[in-house]
Amino acid sequence: KEFGKKAEKEHHDSTSTADTSKVNDLGFNGRLAFAIAAAALGSSFQHGYNTGVLNNPQKILEQWIAATIQDRSGEAPSQDGVIMIFALMVSIFCVGGMIGGAITGVVAEKFGRKGGLLLNNVLVLAAVICMSSSKAAASYELIILGRFLIGINSGLNAGLVPMYLAEISPVNLRGAVGTVYQLVITISILIAQIVSLRSILGTPENWPTLLAITIIPAIFQIVTLPFCPESPKYLLLSKGRDLDAQKALSWFRGTLAVHEEMDGMRAEYDAIKLVPRVTMRELITNNALRIPLIISLTVMLAQQLSGINAVMFFSSKIFKMAGLNDDNSTYATLGMGGINVFMTIVSLVLVEKAGRKTLLLLGFAGMTVDTLLLTICMLFADQSRALGIICVILVLVYVIMFASGPGSIPWFLVSELFNQSARPTASSLAVCTNWTANFLVGLAFLPLAEALGPYVFLIFVVLQALFTLFIYKKVPETKNKSLEEISAMFRQQSYQ
Ligand code: GLC
Repeated sequence: KEFGKKAEKEHHDSTSTADTSKVNDLGFNGRLAFAIAAAALGSSFQHGYNTGVLNNPQKILEQWIAATIQDRSGEAPSQDGVIMIFALMVSIFCVGGMIGGAITGVVAEKFGRKGGLLLNNVLVLAAVICMSSSKAAASYELIILGRFLIGINSGLNAGLVPMYLAEISPVNLRGAVGTVYQLVITISILIAQIVSLRSILGTPENWPTLLAITIIPAIFQIVTLPFCPESPKYLLLSKGRDLDAQKALSWFRGTLAVHEEMDGMRAEYDAIKLVPRVTMRELITNNALRIPLIISLTVMLAQQLSGINAVMFFSSKIFKMAGLNDDNSTYATLGMGGINVFMTIVSLVLVEKAGRKTLLLLGFAGMTVDTLLLTICMLFADQSRALGIICVILVLVYVIMFASGPGSIPWFLVSELFNQSARPTASSLAVCTNWTANFLVGLAFLPLAEALGPYVFLIFVVLQALFTLFIYKKVPETKNKSLEEISAMFRQQSYQ
């Protein structure tokens, strides 16, 4: 601590030129904005874009797969075989995500948050080389491999970006800054929906370019992120580098007056420096850690099992079930993407005022009622045009409810609920859980919809209702609490 104070003074003397002018009361400034953009625009894009990009060009790719097989073997493949290959192309992205999610903790500790993010771009490069050369090489296997690699990249991003953002933000902005991760996902899903239209890149000639676009944010990140410091919390709490941590914090805050925040971090460092990094086993057996772990995992499951990606992946099918023709269902899908972005911006503004718990509750309760109404309307949609239109409106309201909190909050909640020594391992588990549930919904929705018709939505109604109850009973409000205060709260709870 003494060393820390001395270092602080030396640092104060040596960097008196630091930019102190552009800081406002909230602690927001141009440098913080730059770092948020470098981390989130560069990385979250992969997650959203590759979630949405294969939706529109499904038919074109299936035709190409069939032609490729025919060229190789001289025989026309079965329709089922082609559909299977396409389904594998889509879903292997989530398998990669599970693996990337699972190794987040190790990567975040070994290379740092910023270091891990930068390194992760190697996977983007490898993925883009595979996917963009697949047509010339007449190999659909290369797309499958590329989607797997970009999936690993996205899973890693889903752990590293929210962790970096939570660790560099001032406490009163942590929720808003954390929401940027989801905001970039929603924007990139919308971009994917637009550029993959037939009138743009969704054509038999241009689809390799469509898949290669994902390199652009990687280049942006490689150019910008090196100018930003590593997370101060990582530098001090994981590496014991007090002076570097202080320099980094001064950079992010745009002021040298970071003594109070540094003292808070040093107190946490003193408390954890003799304790080894929390292992998976400890997370499960230690009461003070098990409660936040159950909350983080359940909220991740809730986000996916609410059925959001049934809507994101298969909106055209749902709109057709509601009676829309091809063109109108494309427009409705674009409208849905736009609403998703808009409402995520609204939630970014609301999250520091209304709080995490309120927005989660409102979102999940709203989705439960909305999905129940949707099921009923879907059952009768073919009997009247008005009911079909109401179905479309209900799908849009569903997305509004999702984006108001359930979309963004789970991603950063896990970083808020754990202290430094448990955060990486907990993030690994949470992110891996999210991608696993995402994979299962993607796999199960279409067969279930075939078997159950509109009743398929009832499964989501029941799950959403259960998750609403869980959030009401178990999730604590973390707004305006420091990460240390939150961990202390769980320690106290575990003694009760
Ligand atoms: C969340 C989900 C993601 C989904 C997106 C839709 O980020 O994790 O799977 O596609 O929201 O906005």
